[in-house]
Amino acid sequence: MTESTYLHATQVAYDTVAADYAELLRDELVSKPLDRAMLAAFAEVVQASGAKEVADLGCGPGRITAHLQSLGVNAFGIDLSPEMVAVARRDHPDLRFEEGSMTALNLADEAVGGAVAWYSTVHTPPEVLPTVFTEIHRVLAPGGHLLIAFKVGDERRHASQGYGHKLSLDIYWMPPEHIAELLSNAGLVLDAQLIREPDESEKPRSGRQAFFLAHKPYES
Ligand SMILES: C[S@@+](CC[C@H](N)C(=O)[O-])C[C@H]1O[C@@H](n2cnc3c(N)ncnc32)[C@H](O)[C@@H]1O
Repeated sequence: MTESTYLHATQVAYDTVAADYAELLRDELVSKPLDRAMLAAFAEVVQASGAKEVADLGCGPGRITAHLQSLGVNAFGIDLSPEMVAVARRDHPDLRFEEGSMTALNLADEAVGGAVAWYSTVHTPPEVLPTVFTEIHRVLAPGGHLLIAFKVGDERRHASQGYGHKLSLDIYWMPPEHIAELLSNAGLVLDAQLIREPDESEKPRSGRQAFFLAHKPYES
């Protein structure tokens, strides 16, 4: 699949499900203490580094952007899907959300002190992931941190429905050691890896979940 084909398919799918996705996932973090722990650790390190702004890349309806804001992080969101951006603005009118793609971010070099990609690279074909991580490295200020959440495995599945809608969307489960290698290739230094077992809500479809913290070194 070419980069533009995957971007278009992903955008169309999330435009379709945006409102229902927001409703279904609104309180999801409440039952995920380990996920919240990684977000709290990320918030602490970005604040300690003096980061002015943090980009939530592939922010969807903005629930993670808002959670980061509640932890004292000055976060804004970017998403491919105009409908997701509209829902995020509706649900979080005090926060900033913009349309854009992680494959070519409309941000200056070293513009942000932190970046989050919370299950937003799961639709990116493996051959495009190096481009995404190079972009993240480019926009991170030296000393800036990245938090990425993804599904552990080694397969591609095609979803023809989701969140109560018909859609057409590829989802990739990725080996943690491969993500670690890609981050390193992009010039990012891995600081922590949390891999947890699926909870009851994830068991029917997903396996283990991974959360990586990394940073951009001052000299790279
Ligand atoms: C599974 S949702 C996660 C949304 C949000 N991070 C959350 O946890 O609620 C994946 C999101 O990533 C966005 N996305 C996928 N590829 C993207 C890209 N290349 N650039 C920006 N957003 C992207 C989709 O539009 C969708 O909103």
